[in-house]
Amino acid sequence: MPLKLTILVATMTGTAQLVAQELQLAWEDDDTEVEVLQMDGLDAGVFSREGVFLVCTSTYGQGDVPDNAKAFYDALCRDRPGLAHVRYGVFGLGDRTYAETFNFGGKRFDDLLAGLGAKRIGERVQHNASSGEMPEDTALEWAPKWLALAREAAEQAA
Ligand SMILES: Cc1cc2nc3c(=O)[nH]c(=O)nc-3n(C[C@H](O)[C@H](O)[C@H](O)COP(=O)(O)O)c2cc1C
Repeated sequence: MPLKLTILVATMTGTAQLVAQELQLAWEDDDTEVEVLQMDGLDAGVFSREGVFLVCTSTYGQGDVPDNAKAFYDALCRDRPGLAHVRYGVFGLGDRTYAETFNFGGKRFDDLLAGLGAKRIGERVQHNASSGEMPEDTALEWAPKWLALAREAAEQAA
């Protein structure tokens, strides 16, 4: 059975979407199915999908999640669904220029999902736009390690 991965994208100007598409291209093969979903219009029902989730989100405003993620994020905060069955990773995009709120978009989702009982796979990635490294390069370097961890987690859950 192929591993199913769902990448949930929160973006303001498309960078996180680009990262998600690059990861999809890198991961998709006979053993791995990848679907990329924008967070617009999602609700907790998305977590009934089989497989492992990757939250790919940038940060805006005062350390907020992007606008297209707000309704989804707020609904999870309000409804507090039990997500103990969920395994997820976080690829965060941010900029260290915003020292007080660096990568808070990813941190907010991580804290929220963990608080709902979901288990994170691997470390939370914190891309820094001021580093000069392109986020898709960071993502592609990290991708094989995380995929191996995700596969392990899915096999354990099966
Ligand atoms: C108005 C504005 C506010 C931002 N606020 C933050 C912030 O609070 N913390 C952070 O780490 N990055 C912040 N960023 C940086 C973005 O998260 C970063 O540039 C990211 O790569 C953008 O990805 P996106 O195109 O997917 O939205 C901000 C960028 C802008 C333009």
